[in-house]
Amino acid sequence: MLKGKHIILGITGGIAAYKCATLTRLLVKAGAEVQVIMTPNAKQFIQPLTLSTLSGKPVISEFFTANTGQWNSHVDLGLWADALIIAPATASTIGKMAHGVADNMLVTTYLSAKAPVFVAPAMDLDMMRHPSTVRNLELLRSYGNHIIEPAEGELASHLIGKGRMEEPENIVKALDEYFSTGEDLQGKRVMITAGPTVEKIDPVRYISNFSSGKMGFALAEECAARGAEVTLVAGPVSLKTENSNIHRIDVVSAVEMYDAVMQALPQNDAIILCAAVADYRIENVAEKKIKREKDAAPVLHLTPNPDIARAVGEKKRKDQVSVGFALETDNENVNAQGKLDRKNLNFIVMNSLRDKNAGFQVDTNKVTIFTDDGQTIEGECKSKRAVAHDIVDVLHKYLSKQ
Ligand code: C5P
Repeated sequence: MLKGKHIILGITGGIAAYKCATLTRLLVKAGAEVQVIMTPNAKQFIQPLTLSTLSGKPVISEFFTANTGQWNSHVDLGLWADALIIAPATASTIGKMAHGVADNMLVTTYLSAKAPVFVAPAMDLDMMRHPSTVRNLELLRSYGNHIIEPAEGELASHLIGKGRMEEPENIVKALDEYFSTGEDLQGKRVMITAGPTVEKIDPVRYISNFSSGKMGFALAEECAARGAEVTLVAGPVSLKTENSNIHRIDVVSAVEMYDAVMQALPQNDAIILCAAVADYRIENVAEKKIKREKDAAPVLHLTPNPDIARAVGEKKRKDQVSVGFALETDNENVNAQGKLDRKNLNFIVMNSLRDKNAGFQVDTNKVTIFTDDGQTIEGECKSKRAVAHDIVDVLHKYLSKQ
């Protein structure tokens, strides 16, 4: 997918810069045209000559070429690029990118670029987890940049932790995936429910569950990255959305979620029901804080919440696709397939709490998909974003059939 693509490789001053020789080589081998831009400090770590030889283009570092006085146009470069990779991205460059400090050729080009930007941080573990770095990376995400998370392992300081620049092979893979997916959901509208619901007991207490919303948010980002207009109906979670094509509706209770979904249902081509909706709410919500009583315990009356997935299954048009989730602790396959039928879903994504690194809170998941035409697709344990990619592939097939 990288054949003929114009890639700017921005190298900053970190020890991982030595890996950029391999990265340049891999990109060129994949058919990309690579223009290397180095910050002045990067040249302390790797020779420009190595990179200009591997890329077949003179390396750019200054605003002006010293011997000719020729101006290097960051605007032209920004327009030429199909993608920018900043690798390794130091804390300093990340900070400059986050705050628009355009004091070198690389950050200036970044500010002019219209192409997608991939940032591969690399630094010592304490710098990586410093609140300013965390915040700056969050800012970069909020601008729509793609952060290629650093790996854990031994660092140049000999400390062990998170901060190693992702291996060149994986950086190329992330770029390749980005270009290979394309925008196959262009023109589609997808609604996604995510996170838990919170059911009040009294003004200060509630019933809820451990859902973090990570899977639903990963699906929202995946669908938006593939061109869909996304409506994300989210229960109370501490997550942020990155893509500006995600329209977020925050709700608290199952009834609020139901209302939001039902209102937006007619406008959507697909509905992914990923939220962990509380099955019951409190019928007798107390107006004032319930006080401890000496000899008696309060009785909470539960009443069933609406089953949003089932209501969608009943109301959806023939051209609408609905996708459910089933988080099971036992009898997984039978339970999931029962829900597929009962809720009139096109397919259901099952994960088991018995699988390590799957389900609530964690960043990874392992799922099995059951489709309404009898297929079973078993997945590996992957990042939630990678799982979202696989789920959206199946969704895309259904949407193309409608
Ligand atoms: O809770 P249960 O295991 O039945 O959830 C299965 C599917 O139904 C999930 O996709 C979940 O989002 C959805 N659901 C819902 N409304 C409920 C309960 C579940 O949309 N009240």
